[in-house]
Amino acid sequence: MEDLSTVDASLMKQEVLEGLTKPQKQLPSKYFYDERGSDLFEQITRLDEYYLTDCEKEILQSNISEISDRIGSDVMLIELGSGSSYKTRYLLEELLDLSTYIPVDISEEFLLKTVNQLRMEYPKISIIPVFADYTSSFALPVSGNQHQKQIVFFPGSTIGNFNPSESRAFLQNIAEITADDSEMLIGVDLKKDTDVLEAAYNDQQGITAQFNKNMLRHINHVLDADFEVEKFDHNAFYNEEAGRIEMHLVSSQKQTVNVSDQEIAFAEGESIHTENSYKYSLEEFEELVGDWYSVEKVWTDEKDYFSLQYLKKK
Ligand code: AVI
Repeated sequence: MEDLSTVDASLMKQEVLEGLTKPQKQLPSKYFYDERGSDLFEQITRLDEYYLTDCEKEILQSNISEISDRIGSDVMLIELGSGSSYKTRYLLEELLDLSTYIPVDISEEFLLKTVNQLRMEYPKISIIPVFADYTSSFALPVSGNQHQKQIVFFPGSTIGNFNPSESRAFLQNIAEITADDSEMLIGVDLKKDTDVLEAAYNDQQGITAQFNKNMLRHINHVLDADFEVEKFDHNAFYNEEAGRIEMHLVSSQKQTVNVSDQEIAFAEGESIHTENSYKYSLEEFEELVGDWYSVEKVWTDEKDYFSLQYLKKK
């Protein structure tokens, strides 16, 4: 299978071995997303239990005129992450006076495919892809139009996959590379009943389990490792103290795995921590962004499960 993220194998080797030799074994969640992983994530977003996507859509649709008014006219929309989704098309269609759209994504192949399609559908919008890892510093293209307001669009509560210090580094970086009057429209998943949270990451069909285990297949493929995927079980739970869903892969037996030139031993029941998905209260999120952004407006869905927030650079 072709690797969608054109992953850097030597970086992957280094990060994987570093993670697997820690006392609590861990792997970076970015390695979920090869082609199969991205496809499984798409399937997750359509699951009944995974309320995040539907809630965000509901918020966008119910408040689109107010959101468009805030965004204003002659804007440069900078979207972090995949630009192919329903949400992007919805915004591109509804924001009548959008002049420039800048999708930022690490996968060049994916981005080019998306951009070619979007250019055909929206010939009046200037679409400038930026291939970059938005978790580290990157440059934005210089706009020919000085009056364009920059709006960063970061949907899906992807910020929840960063720990608080990574989130702060990310916010600082985005604030540094955008103009003084820039604004941000960001999706943030909220704290709620543990049962609802845990169901979203333990769906009945087992798609999230396949998504979690896909990380091992991805590593097998790129690093020629020999994880026997069926010997690991999916485990996702809400860690109340840390305010996050944790995903783990639990070794169902004592075993050893070869990764590149290293042997990794697992005890029965030992886990690899594969992802955090932080959930915020509105106060906690305001505090998190507070050094760089003020929260101008918060929209939530009917159940108050999810929020879309409008931030302004301080
Ligand atoms: C991409 N990200 C916001 C998802 C989340 O909910 O944290 C990834 C995911 N992990 C399991 N299901 C979905």
